[in-house]
Amino acid sequence: MSEFKPLVFSGVQPTGNLHLGNYLGAIRKFVALQDNNDCMYCVVDLHALTAQLVHDDMPGQIRSITAAFLAAGIDPQKHIVFNQSQVPQHAELAWIFNCVARMGWMSRMTQFKDKAGKDREQASLGLFAYPSLMAADILVYRATHVPVGDDQKQHLELTRDIAMKFNLDFGDKIRPTGLGVDITVGNEPVHAYFPMVEPLIDGPAPRVMSLKDGSKKMSKSDPSDLSRVNLMDDSDTISKKIRKAKTDPDALPSEVAGLSGRPEADNLVGIYAALADKTKADVLAEFGGQQFSVFKPALVDLAVDVLAPITDEMRRLMADPGHIDAVLRDGGERARARAEKTMMEVRDIIGFVR
Ligand code: TRP
Repeated sequence: MSEFKPLVFSGVQPTGNLHLGNYLGAIRKFVALQDNNDCMYCVVDLHALTAQLVHDDMPGQIRSITAAFLAAGIDPQKHIVFNQSQVPQHAELAWIFNCVARMGWMSRMTQFKDKAGKDREQASLGLFAYPSLMAADILVYRATHVPVGDDQKQHLELTRDIAMKFNLDFGDKIRPTGLGVDITVGNEPVHAYFPMVEPLIDGPAPRVMSLKDGSKKMSKSDPSDLSRVNLMDDSDTISKKIRKAKTDPDALPSEVAGLSGRPEADNLVGIYAALADKTKADVLAEFGGQQFSVFKPALVDLAVDVLAPITDEMRRLMADPGHIDAVLRDGGERARARAEKTMMEVRDIIGFVR
């Protein structure tokens, strides 16, 4: 083999409500990638335990992310949609990666530092090992391309470090199996079993910020529901939230440079541009010089137009949990077959007797 087969993989945690930022930043990209790639989209329920061990409605959370994938236009027949816990090979490979990754690497993860806060002694071992499970999610399929938000870039670098160390440490064992691929990393030739994953971060996806504070990311964990547009919000709620969004007193500028130092204006223009599939410059060419009293109603109409069909479809799907579960079971079965193939090879490379 001279190259890894291209495969797109991404995951979304079933914690809290999906919002506009998740849709524009991730799910819409997942949808677009389907045209030219083999894709796997995973509801990472094992990861959700690192945020909170006991959930009030774990099944509902898993189904609602799945419903959002389907409602947004991901095709579970051409591609694979599944939840992580149905494929135990993720956890098995994560254990092996726990033995590959170094404490020092993990300790440098900024997401761990943020989430663990001051009292690290009280953070779970799962939270610390989170990126190792994420690497396993991707590499158990030897996936090559991972669409994520830029906050996940560091985790993907770690995924590459883990893959590289595995490839080098087991190099002599990989070669005789004939399972490896000759790649170059930097200028070094490497006989690799695991690919060096590429993040797919750029593209039209904006960083969608809080509607109440243009310097903070729109987040499911923000205590103020007014800070975000949820994918399940009805049109009246979307309208109310956008009308109440924080702004400044000035009119919109006619050029993008005029948005600097105006984070709230920048955010709303960015959201409009993303929803309309235009650039911020296009939007300002249209609305430059106008007050927010004109721009906000236009943004409400656009947001409702784009989101209402998705929201309606999500509600329809959520009314039939049996159908969603069947989609996940089918995806899980197909994912398991692929993951087990890798794990058979990994067990052989390591030398486990079977
Ligand atoms: N850590 C990712 C996030 O919080 C979710 C995730 C888990 C993921 N496993 C993954 C993303 C594998 C991409 C690939 O957004």
